[in-house]
Amino acid sequence: MKLLYQYSRISEKDINTLAQSLIPYNNHLKQVEKNGGYEHDESSINLPSDEALLDNVRKMIEKKSVEKIKYFIVIGIGGSNLGTKAIYDALLGYFDILEPERFSKIIFFDTTHALFAKHFTQFVDAQLNSKEDFFVSVISKSGGTVETMVNAEFIFNTLQQKFSDAKDRFILITDENSKLWKQGEKLGIDALSIPEKIGGRFSVFSTVGLFPIAACGLDIEKLRQGAVDMRNKCIGKEIPENPALVSAILLFLNNKAEYTTDDNFIFEPELESVGKWYRQLMGESIGKEKDVEDNVVRAGITPTVSIGSTDLHSVGQLYLGGPHDKFTTFIWAENANNNSGTLGSGTFTELVPEVKGETFLDIKGAIFDGTKIAYQKQEIPFMEVVLDDISEYSLGQFLQFKMIEMMYLGKLFNVNTFDQPHVELYKTETRHILSS
Ligand code: PA5
Repeated sequence: MKLLYQYSRISEKDINTLAQSLIPYNNHLKQVEKNGGYEHDESSINLPSDEALLDNVRKMIEKKSVEKIKYFIVIGIGGSNLGTKAIYDALLGYFDILEPERFSKIIFFDTTHALFAKHFTQFVDAQLNSKEDFFVSVISKSGGTVETMVNAEFIFNTLQQKFSDAKDRFILITDENSKLWKQGEKLGIDALSIPEKIGGRFSVFSTVGLFPIAACGLDIEKLRQGAVDMRNKCIGKEIPENPALVSAILLFLNNKAEYTTDDNFIFEPELESVGKWYRQLMGESIGKEKDVEDNVVRAGITPTVSIGSTDLHSVGQLYLGGPHDKFTTFIWAENANNNSGTLGSGTFTELVPEVKGETFLDIKGAIFDGTKIAYQKQEIPFMEVVLDDISEYSLGQFLQFKMIEMMYLGKLFNVNTFDQPHVELYKTETRHILSS
């Protein structure tokens, strides 16, 4: 993975100056990694090298024989499903509609949606023939999120009606001793735990992400290896070899210069869910009313996700012609396996003669390069994250890079990267309405 930033508007001198201020925090991250375990807010960096965790996931996969299932149902919201969805969609899910016979597929239940639930009931009737066809994970760190518990209730009852003892086909992934954990003990449903200090948006390399990803046949060892290699770079290297440090500084300095939106402009459509995972990571980690000294600061960078070239036909006009308030991160893969030869006879392409003889890859490259030139001409700042390819290893690298970037960024903004006090506001109001 490479980070390119010559058009970021920020000088090497400014990057180096700010990097100096992060040396103590960088030393703290090194110490967290050296100590291992899960004592610190930043301990998610230890997840990808936790062999006991990998062993637990593998044993549970074997115990439940999930490798043979057709449908894996993930019930969870926010940090409890976005990482899994990012990896699944990037490698398999984006192509599901074109590959109806490829299994295992993941079905995600996050928000509550009566019509989706109705369709699910019909799906159970028509598509699930035995208990071996499916497996369900209910994922909630707190074990008490309204949407997750409502969906779990509905799916549990729907499946129990058709299959006796469908509860064997459930697993709970939650904090040890949460209400959900205790419910599992009462009902005799197996559970996997999440270390207490690991918050939802930093949990993709814990049981939260590893169990469903492994269950649908993806290689979690390569995912973890990518994360370990990237962690070593992002805490062990200095500027300019440390992409998390550089990227955090670029985002911070652009934000201070009123480039308050970070548009993640992704030129590989199957990575859209990766963008949405990052949107949560940045939104919840940096969007804070107060800094760590309790001063009101109203910090935040607004993360957006755009898809190339689709969104050039939607918000391209705004981006190129509208206010200069965005710092763009172009994300693409050097080897995205999408070179499928020339297009053939010319029936339609004769209407645009300049594409004659070109491949899908050439056309994508021309659109992408054209976009970057237009950004340069309009003096819109950007950086580029270039993945080697779209694989478990590269995704492990990217997700780890962004989580460590967020730790540095929180330090620069002087906010608590790991809490989300304002998410509670709507939860409290919802409970109040439901109980009145
Ligand atoms: O990152 C977070 O902490 C949140 O987005 C949570 O993941 C989300 O609110 C779901 O919470 P829980 O996993 O407790 O059900």
